[in-house]
Amino acid sequence: MLNMSTERQIKLIRKYLKVKILEDYVKFRGHEKESKHVYDLIMKSIVQGESHSALIIGPRGCGKTTLINSVLHQVSNEVDMENDVIVVKLNGLLHQDDKVALKSITAQMKLENAVGDRVFGTFAENLNFLLSCLISGVDRKCRSMIFILEEFDMFCHTGKTQTLLYNLFDITHNKQAPMCVLGITNRLDVMEMLEKRVKSRFSHRHIFIFPNESTQPLENIKQIFVECLSVYILRDKPKKRKGRKSTASSDDMEVDSQIQAIPEVVFQRCGMDSRQFQELDPGFLENWNDHIQSLVEDERIVDALEKFCYYVVNEQIFRNVLYQIVAKLSANKPYIDPTDITSTIDNTVAPEHRVKLLQSLSILELSLVIAMMHGLEIFDGEPMNFEMVLHRYTKFANENSSTQTVPRPVILKAFEHLQSLEIIMPIRSTDSVNTDTTTSRVQKEYKLYTLAVPVDDIKEAVKGFKALPTEINHWANNSVV
Ligand SMILES: Nc1ncnc2c1ncn2[C@@H]1O[C@H](COP(=O)(O)OP(=O)(O)OP(=O)(O)O)[C@@H](O)[C@H]1O
Ligand SMILES: [Mg+2]
Repeated sequence: MLNMSTERQIKLIRKYLKVKILEDYVKFRGHEKESKHVYDLIMKSIVQGESHSALIIGPRGCGKTTLINSVLHQVSNEVDMENDVIVVKLNGLLHQDDKVALKSITAQMKLENAVGDRVFGTFAENLNFLLSCLISGVDRKCRSMIFILEEFDMFCHTGKTQTLLYNLFDITHNKQAPMCVLGITNRLDVMEMLEKRVKSRFSHRHIFIFPNESTQPLENIKQIFVECLSVYILRDKPKKRKGRKSTASSDDMEVDSQIQAIPEVVFQRCGMDSRQFQELDPGFLENWNDHIQSLVEDERIVDALEKFCYYVVNEQIFRNVLYQIVAKLSANKPYIDPTDITSTIDNTVAPEHRVKLLQSLSILELSLVIAMMHGLEIFDGEPMNFEMVLHRYTKFANENSSTQTVPRPVILKAFEHLQSLEIIMPIRSTDSVNTDTTTSRVQKEYKLYTLAVPVDDIKEAVKGFKALPTEINHWANNSVV
C-alpha cells in the first residue's frame, strides 16, 4: 500500500476533492439561529403533528439549499424518516405547471399505484386524495409531509393562478394534515408576488440568510479554502474491521476540529464507494494537507483571495474556482501552483468587472476608447495623446453624419474621466524618471496614454452595450481603414 504510485494517489485525491467541492451539501457553517429555526419547524411538524409554513430568503449561493439539507440530515438522525415523514422537493424551474407538479408530488409520495387511472376534477381534489392515502395504521396516524419549494418565486408568476401554493398553504392554515411548507427564494420582494388568498394563508414567517455575516470575510474565505482542499479520511479501526460495514458512525472519527471527513451519505448519493479512499497513504495525505496550509499563508494567494471576496460573495463561484484548480492536478503536477490560483481568480473576477465598467461609460467615452483601440492597432501599441485620439474620433464622426458633433472641452473631459476610471493609463516615459517635474509640465493634451483594458473586454462590452448606435458597433468591430 505504501508503495502505491504517486499517480494513483493524486488520482484519488483529485476524485475525493471533486466530491467535496461539488457534492457536499450536508455540512453547514454558521447561521445557527436560522438553522435552529428551520429545525424547530420541521421537528414540530413531525413530532407534534403541527402545520407550519416559512420562507427562506437569501442571495444566490449563500447556502439556502445547504441549510435545508443539513437540517434534514440532522433530523434523519433523530426520527424514523422512512415511516414518519415524507419529504417532497419541488423546484420552480421544473414544476411550473400544476400537472407536472402533481405528478412529481405523487411520485415522491410513492402513490402512483394508488392513483392509477383515477381522474380528478380539480387540483385540490387530487391533493386531498393523496393526503388521505397517507392516513394509515390502526391509530389512523398521518405521516408528516415536508414540502421544500426551491426557486419559490417561480411558482408565483403572474398570468397563472397560484393553485399549488394556495392549496399547500390552505392545508397548513386549516391544519388539515401535519405539514411543513418551506419556500426558498432569492427575491426579497417575493411577498408582493403572492395572490391575496395565498398571502392570507401564509404564516408570514421569513427566515433571512445573508452571506458573510462574519466581519472578517478574508478569514472566512481562507477557512473555506483550507477546508475544501484538505483531505481527511475516515479509517476503519483495524480491530472492528471484520463483520462491520464501513458506514462509520461518529465514534469512528478521530477528533479533528479543523478538517472533517465527507459524510457517508454524500458518497451514497454519488453512488461511490468510500472505502477506495482508504488506499490513500497517511504520510502522503499529511504532506498534502501541509501543502494546502502553506498555500493559504502565501502572500500572493492571500491577495488573490482578498480580491475575490471584494467582488463576489457567492460561495458557489468560489467553489467553481477551486474545482478548476483541482481538475488540473495530475501525476506530472501533483501540487497546486500558486499562480494557478491567482490566474483562475483573476479570470473569474476581473473580466466581468472590467466589462461592466466599460458598459457603464457614456457613448462618447466608449467612442474614445474605441478610437484609442484602433490607434494602438495602427501604431503597434505606441502610446497616444489626447490630440491623436481626438483626431481618430473626429475622423470617424465626420464620416458618419448621424454622429452628433461634440465641443472639444466636452471630449477632453470625457478623456479625463477615462483616466480617473483607470481605463487609460498615463505612460511613464523612461527619460522622465529623474525629471518628474518636466513631465507634469507637459500640457495635458500631449501626455501619453495607453489602454489599461484588454481589447477582448472592449469587444465584449460593445457586444452587450445597451442602445449603442449601429455605426459605433460597426466601427468597433472592423479593423481600421
Ligand atoms: N454556510 C455554509 N456552510 C457550508 N457550505 C456553504 C455555506 N454557504 C454556502 N455553502 C456552499 O456554497 C455552495 C452554494 O450553496 P447553496 O447551493 O446551498 O446556495 P443557495 O443559497 O441554495 O443558492 P441558490 O440560490 O443558487 O440555490 C454549496 O456548495 C455549499 O456547500
Ligand atoms: Mg439552492
